Amino acid sequence: MQVVSIISTKGGVGKTTTAANLGGFAADAGLRVLLLDLDVQPTLSSYFELRERAPAGIYELLAFNEQSLDRLVSHTAIPGLDLVLSNDDKGQLNTLLLHAPDGRLRLRNLLPTFSAHYDLMLIDTQGARSVLLEMAVLASDSALSPVTPEILAAREFRRGTLQLMRDIAPYRRLGIEPPELRLLINRVHPVSSNARLIQQALRDLFHAEPGIAVLDTNIPAIEAYPRASTMALPVHRVEYRRPTGRTTPAAFDTMRALARELLPEWESAFTRLEAGVHRRVRT
Ligand SMILES: Nc1ncnc2c1ncn2[C@@H]1O[C@H](COP(=O)(O)OP(=O)(O)OP(=O)(O)O)[C@@H](O)[C@H]1O
Ligand SMILES: [Mg+2]
Repeated sequence: MQVVSIISTKGGVGKTTTAANLGGFAADAGLRVLLLDLDVQPTLSSYFELRERAPAGIYELLAFNEQSLDRLVSHTAIPGLDLVLSNDDKGQLNTLLLHAPDGRLRLRNLLPTFSAHYDLMLIDTQGARSVLLEMAVLASDSALSPVTPEILAAREFRRGTLQLMRDIAPYRRLGIEPPELRLLINRVHPVSSNARLIQQALRDLFHAEPGIAVLDTNIPAIEAYPRASTMALPVHRVEYRRPTGRTTPAAFDTMRALARELLPEWESAFTRLEAGVHRRVRT
């Protein structure tokens, strides 16, 4: 099971959108996907319709070490896409984990509960520094961090990102290698911004930092993303062809590029999904 956390020390950069759409794309490609909603505000938990709602969620998992998948895992209306709901409405988990000796490693220690049942775990997090965020990063094989062009201009962005990576670095002494942080430029305005320039600026900003990479894929700002969220669907199902008169790629192509870049081991599954869509479009 590949574990990818979606993190940012800033709010509103597109974490939940990325988690929902990447999860939906991977599930449609045939992967068994589990979404973990670690945000106190259950935005990801309410993105998709639920076919079956589990009685427990993230609170029981992390506070009580609940390990029964029947109790923990809700099933969304998208086949192959499951979810552990955010149900820490009083925001108690953070304090609880802060004071627990194993706090930041709790999720990492619980991964074997899920690993035989899923190919991909995607962890959505809250847009602020917290114990939960550090716990998510320490459980991940890679951490995906959406960055919007306007945040790139803010000086504290680099400081916040580097501080997070520095704070978890001491876990190396326990044999836990912090994951590579992969920056994903999100909401690039199709007319006024130049994606390549933004990408270069981001690479310049972090060039001396080991463990931080900038993804080649970037996500344009298009209304298909909020529209897909309103329709409770992954965006690749909503916009699989580029609308005429627009130069930005179709959301399907963007999600496929992102999936390939992040999860190259499932490349053939993504190609099959694309071939299937083209067949359906032609007929
Ligand atoms: N590429 C995009 N193009 C257009 N709109 C987008 C794009 N990505 C995200 N959005 C919109 O931006 C808003 C914020 O996105 P989202 O909720 O995913 O951010 P977040 O990082 O999860 O925020 P929070 O920190 O509050 O959890 C949403 O309304 C979403 O539809
Ligand atoms: Mg969110």
